[in-house]
Amino acid sequence: MIDRIIFATENPGKIREVKAILADLGLEVLSLKEAGLTTNVAETGDTFEANAILKVKAVAADDHTIVMADDSGLEVDALGKEPGVYSARYLGEDTSYRVKNQAIIDRLSEKTGLERSARFVCVIAALLPNGNILTARGTIEGVIGYEERGEGGFGYDPIFMVPELGRSTAELTAEEKNAISHRGRALTEMKEKLRGIL
Ligand code: IMP
Repeated sequence: MIDRIIFATENPGKIREVKAILADLGLEVLSLKEAGLTTNVAETGDTFEANAILKVKAVAADDHTIVMADDSGLEVDALGKEPGVYSARYLGEDTSYRVKNQAIIDRLSEKTGLERSARFVCVIAALLPNGNILTARGTIEGVIGYEERGEGGFGYDPIFMVPELGRSTAELTAEEKNAISHRGRALTEMKEKLRGIL
């Protein structure tokens, strides 16, 4: 019987969101660390789907566990969809998001309005004990702001403005972000797929 999900990430911002969104599935949700596991996977894929699948395949789990992972990132249209699958590594993995965010703002200094369009993309992969892999994709459309705003969320949230709300995703409560975010949407779709087999 499947009774737990191990979510393969070491990113505390992601695991917080994932636990909140998956809570109603009725399964225990553990981070890799909480499960006492580590993984070191090279994200060599050039799509979010390929990388999410690489991440779940890198974890050895028992037959009552679903291994889940996401690969996500920010696509800025005026930058040819950069940083995309390289979002975590943009300007170097150890470079602060203050610096990464400012670099994106600077690169868009000539752009206004919809020329600043961008989206967050998230692909979730789930490896079932029988070896089957399910995937689900979610996106949220927005524009890059002119300055960092807000203290919530993580990563590029302070520069990602949601036009309908007039706020950045770092200015939303966790609940508000999860209800509309790329990760929230992908996980909701994944939950529907899992409900069919659990
Ligand atoms: P991954 O861990 O390889 O999937 O890299 C995802 C990266 O995309 C994160 O480290 C962030 O830079 C960015 N990203 C993904 N989702 C979000 C989000 O919800 N808010 C802000 N940045 C995000």
